[in-house]
Amino acid sequence: MAKKLIIAKWKMNPVDKDTAKKISISTQRNACNLKNIEAIVCPPFVYLGVLSAGDKRNFSFGAQDIFWDEKKTSYTGEISATMLKKLGAKYVIIGHSERREYLGEDNLMINKKIKYALLSGLKVIFCVGEKERDDDGQYLNFIKMEIMEGLRSIPNKFSKNIIVAYEPIWAIGKSGKNADSPEKVFEVSIYIKKILVDIFGRQKGEKIPIIYGGSVDSKNTAGFLSEGGVSGLLVGHKSLDQESFKEIMEVANNINK
Ligand code: PGA
Repeated sequence: MAKKLIIAKWKMNPVDKDTAKKISISTQRNACNLKNIEAIVCPPFVYLGVLSAGDKRNFSFGAQDIFWDEKKTSYTGEISATMLKKLGAKYVIIGHSERREYLGEDNLMINKKIKYALLSGLKVIFCVGEKERDDDGQYLNFIKMEIMEGLRSIPNKFSKNIIVAYEPIWAIGKSGKNADSPEKVFEVSIYIKKILVDIFGRQKGEKIPIIYGGSVDSKNTAGFLSEGGVSGLLVGHKSLDQESFKEIMEVANNINK
């Protein structure tokens, strides 16, 4: 069975390098014996160097964004895939709802970033999800559009480096009470899988891991991974709490046994 992907997304935290080091060391230490999971830590850019040190058993790291070009180097303030790769990063998160909302990222820009990251050899964690869940099912069309436009003209051979993170925006917050239900996540993930099969063909599309994010904590982890049927979790706030994240990783590791 494939390892469950347990992704820590630190958002714009913590405020200092020592804390980043502490959380990273503890996550690495906790992950090293959990061979049924891959822990992936995605910190702010300034802490990527901290993560490149230390034990890499069942552990990788990645970035929370990337620029979409490096034909030129005159992009003030931006970070290229080559820089990330040279630091040892394996993954990049693209299309997170907070970047869509606060930084104006649209499907077109996200598509450019995905193409460029894949061409550069990074694995892409592509985030999609609706703002609201309406009774008529319009939210499903919204998700479909995000996927179709985000993955437009991506050659089939790159499908193995894509992970789709389903994150209903209304479920993103601080605590388990906002989270979606495993049953609903199961339903939506089947829907997403069907879209991926339409894009990449059955063989390749079915293999793309679909993960869930939005108020994941140690109590709801088992539900999402078993009844929800997802291949992993994208964890925000609770990934900064060493004890909580340790429990999330342990629960995920036991589910896969
Ligand atoms: P949360 O964040 O786990 O704090 O809800 C998830 C996310 O931002 O992707």
